[in-house]
Amino acid sequence: MQWSLPLVSWAWPICIIVTRTLTANLPHPAADITACKLAANQNVYLSAGFGYELNCAPSVGTLSAFMMFVDFPDQGADESTPEVLRDFLLPRAADWYDRASYGALDLLVMADTSRFYRMPATAASYNWERGLTAEKHQRYIQDALAAYNAPIPVVDVLYIVPTANATAITYSPTFMGNVTTRDGTYVAKKSVTFGYDAYKTWGSLVLNHETGHAMCLPDYYPFNGSATGLFIGGWDLMGLISGPSPDYLAWDKWRLGWLSDNQVDCVAEAGQTSHVLSPLEVSGGKKAVVIKHNDTNALVAELRSSRSLDSASCATGILLYTVSTMIATGGGPMRVLDPTPSSGGCGGDELNDATLTVDGTSSYIIADWHVEIKVVGRVGENYEIMVTLV
Ligand SMILES: *[C@@H]1O[C@H](CO)[C@@H](O)[C@H](O)[C@H]1NC(C)=O
Ligand SMILES: *[C@@H]1O[C@H](CO)[C@@H](O)[C@H](O)[C@H]1NC(C)=O
Ligand SMILES: *[C@@H]1O[C@H](CO)[C@@H](O)[C@H](O)[C@H]1NC(C)=O
Ligand SMILES: *[C@@H]1O[C@H](CO)[C@@H](O)[C@H](O)[C@H]1NC(C)=O
Ligand SMILES: [Zn+2]
Repeated sequence: MQWSLPLVSWAWPICIIVTRTLTANLPHPAADITACKLAANQNVYLSAGFGYELNCAPSVGTLSAFMMFVDFPDQGADESTPEVLRDFLLPRAADWYDRASYGALDLLVMADTSRFYRMPATAASYNWERGLTAEKHQRYIQDALAAYNAPIPVVDVLYIVPTANATAITYSPTFMGNVTTRDGTYVAKKSVTFGYDAYKTWGSLVLNHETGHAMCLPDYYPFNGSATGLFIGGWDLMGLISGPSPDYLAWDKWRLGWLSDNQVDCVAEAGQTSHVLSPLEVSGGKKAVVIKHNDTNALVAELRSSRSLDSASCATGILLYTVSTMIATGGGPMRVLDPTPSSGGCGGDELNDATLTVDGTSSYIIADWHVEIKVVGRVGENYEIMVTLV
């Protein structure tokens, strides 16, 4: 008893000194994570912030879907529906979400594979190629529901799959309004109507791209006619379905609830901080550093590898991109920054090798935003980076 009092009394100041010494050398404590959760702007279509509202399909738990198959008087089916389903869509698309979401999203599809339901009008008459308005798209969906002519369960997403013979249904848009039958019965939050491009070009990943829209994700390729890879190359299938690294960007995985707040570091104040990132494609560990620029813009650093969904990746390392909640779908709400702007890229796009690495280009300065990102080293699969915000 006699010894313990003096011990405690001088152990206390030492403890404080030790803490101060460490604080001087260690990075600043991470900012409150909420500072980096940029709010969506409800007036910007599919704004890439948190809390965008458009009766979006759920991104965690079960996303329920109903799938039906259609053919047309002018373009009839001669394949079988289970064949279409198995060879082309499921279970591949559901497995993809299971891996991308680290098990957080379960895509549950009820499919009626009994037959192709015959649409009342020719495939050509839906005018797919000459610009599909929301009204014409709705007419197509309601024709399919009328052809089905039986109750279907209320689901999050209705999938309508045409025969591979229906070349006139050229592409695969998502109807973003509430889906109802012509007499007003509510069916689903969204509908994905597949097209010939799914068979010809994209395969099951088109389901993952379009269902991303059902969850209110924007398109990351430009709508103005520039090259598909202009904004983000092949880093996320919302930018390019056939890109070498199709897994969703960490910013969206965070927004969708697939990454928890403690898997993201937020930098919102000037200073120097260090962070250890683990590959985005595998579960567990820190997945992103978000450097807040202002209430609508942020810079994100994440580590991409060639694991899991990104096995076709042609470059790995720290990927940097900006996010703006003020830019609508197709206008470049996400933009990958390129530390090696005249490398020639890889996998068909200049941006596909836009990573910082230990051996190659290891630091990048975003002058306008007063930020420097530097790769400090690599421990196993993980990267340590230093963020300097002035
Ligand atoms: C469907 O397409 C195949 C070849 O792709 C063709 O042989 C067949 O005649 C077509 N069937 C119908 C009903 O149009
Ligand atoms: C769609 O349905 C949701 C939920 O049932 C409702 O809140 C929303 O107002 C509907 N949207 C339209 C455009 O009818
Ligand atoms: C499309 O928009 C981007 C971003 O604003 C711009 O850099 C590009 O030049 C535009 N392309 C065309 C063809 O207008
Ligand atoms: C936020 O930053 C972006 C990019 O620098 C800029 O265009 C925008 O005007 C800024 N917004 C505000 C409110 O300062
Ligand atoms: Zn799209």
